[in-house]
This record gives sequence, structure tokens and C-alpha cells, in this order.
Amino acid sequence: MAIDKNLIDQFIKVTTKAALSSSYLVGKKDKISADKAAVDSMRLELNKMNIQGEIVIGEGELDEAPMLYIGEKIGNKNGPELDIAVDPLEGTNFAANNLPGALSVIAIAEKNNLFKAPETYMEKISTKVNENDVIDLDFTVKQNICNLSDYLNKNPENLTACILDRPRHKEIIDELKKLKVNLKLITDGDVSGALLVTEEKYNIDIFLGIGGGPEGVLAAAALDAFNCNFQGRFLFKTDEDKVRAKKMGINDLTKKYELNEIVTGDSIFCATGITSGDLVRGIEIQGDEFISETLVTHKSSGLKKVIKLKQNL
Ligand code: FBP
Repeated sequence: MAIDKNLIDQFIKVTTKAALSSSYLVGKKDKISADKAAVDSMRLELNKMNIQGEIVIGEGELDEAPMLYIGEKIGNKNGPELDIAVDPLEGTNFAANNLPGALSVIAIAEKNNLFKAPETYMEKISTKVNENDVIDLDFTVKQNICNLSDYLNKNPENLTACILDRPRHKEIIDELKKLKVNLKLITDGDVSGALLVTEEKYNIDIFLGIGGGPEGVLAAAALDAFNCNFQGRFLFKTDEDKVRAKKMGINDLTKKYELNEIVTGDSIFCATGITSGDLVRGIEIQGDEFISETLVTHKSSGLKKVIKLKQNL
């Protein structure tokens, strides 16, 4: 079954309003308030919709988050049953410090079609190459780069990899440098990082490394619509993490998930810019109007585009 196309505009409104609310706090060095503004707005707008939604990726679990927590029922209890993943403010540092790339993000699938991901790290890999055995989380960096370079018929020095700039990635980054692969090191925002493989214009051949699990699931929904490849493996450090994962139904804690195990069936993805970044421009206020840009995908209709809107404040 497909998700009703008429819901797309409403979900764009949800991320657009959240982005606008958060935009007033850009540069104020206050991550928590910028996040709260986006969360409050997103929840308010979602609850106006004719849907029976359940948050599967949210701001944490009931005991730690007052709203948009995993398991929260959302919508006015009429209409289609949907799984909803939210990251009202992706890139809290970006917003707090007025840096490029802060987004408000949502992904929607039909009930039981989106992975319920715990708040833990995930090892991820993504490319636009959708063939088996070219890229794999279980391959070494060298093997992945050699395979990709053969497949794309490009030398490693003509490939570019995107990865979060973190000490935990030292070995991967050193190996990529040794192989002469160009690097795009990002300081935050790996939903956007993963999506840079979707189109030639971004000039990114592979995204890899460890980032947030929820961000991995959100990116996977859009990557699916672009027919790109994604694999993820959750990393559970503490016993507490492991217990929570088991409670959420994850029995094999070391499993490598393919894209179609993270998101199945139809999906909608919306990412509205708060500050301007690689994917979309940020909120711009002009008098009593504001301009927003939202990257939208809808898998079943093939929609994949940036929608620019000018609206009254
Ligand atoms: P927040 O918006 O929650 O601050 O997340 C930003 C982010 O960069 C994500 O895009 C990424 O998945 C995660 O943080 C990486 O975590 P860490 O900063 O711990 O390496």
C-alpha cells in the first residue's frame, strides 16, 4: 500500500514550522532551547493531523523525554496507521552556533515498516551503487574503496568519502588517506552526510563511519527513495544499552541491517533547512514572510525534490 500523497504537504508543514521555530534561536549558543522549540512545534503540528501515528524514533524513551518519545501516539487518532521517525533539530551544535547544516527531519512509513531504533551509535555505510558485494560493512576500508573504484571505473584519488570528523574514525581516515581518497570531513550532521551520495552534484561517492542510530534510520528512508545502498549495525556499549535494545525487540545485538530491513514499503522523508547547508537553504525571514527549503522524498510516487516555499509568518 502507498502512503496517501495528500499527506506530503502536511509533513512538509510539520518540518517547516519546526525549522522556523528553531530558527529564532540560531546562534544563541543554547542547544537545548533550539531543540525544544523544534520539538514543541513538531508535536503540535503532528497532533493536528488525521493520522494514527506512533513515534518509532524520537527524543528518547518515555522515562527520559517528556514528548516525542519512542512509543508516543501522535495524531488525532483518525486516518492511516503510520510509523514516524523524528529528529526535530538535527545538528544542535549547528543551530546553537549558527553554522551551516541544521535541519528539521521526519520520516514516515506505514505501521510496522520503520525500524524502532534505540538511542545508540550505529556503524553505517552508504553509496549510490545498489549492487550486492560492492560495498559492505563487513569489508575492510581498502576492499570497499577498491571495489567501488572498480565499479565506478574511477581511481581512488578520484573518489570522495564523507565521514564525521571524530577521533573514533582515526583508523578509517588514515586508511582513506593512504588510499588517496578525497575526504569530506563533517563536524556534525550525518543524516545530511549520508544523503550526499544521492546525487552527482554533491560529489560524494561513499559515506561511512559511526554516528547516531536514529540518524541512520532517518537517512535510510531517504536513501531508499533515491535507490541508494545503506547498511547499518548498532553498537551497544553498556549493559543498560543492551537491555533496552532487547526490550525493543532486538535480539541479535551484532546484526548488520540492510536498508530493506530498516525501512520497508512506502515512505515519506522531509528535511527542512534551519541554517543553510549542502542539501537545502536555511530559513530566511523577509519582513512578515519567510522562505523555507525542504528536501522531500515519497518512495511510491518517485518524488525526490527540494521544495521552496514563501509563506506568511
Ligand atoms: P545532535 O543534533 O543530536 O546534536 O546530533 C548531531 C550529530 O552530529 C548527528 O548527526 C550524528 O549522528 C551524531 O551527532 C554523532 O554523535 P557524536 O557527536 O557523539 O559523535
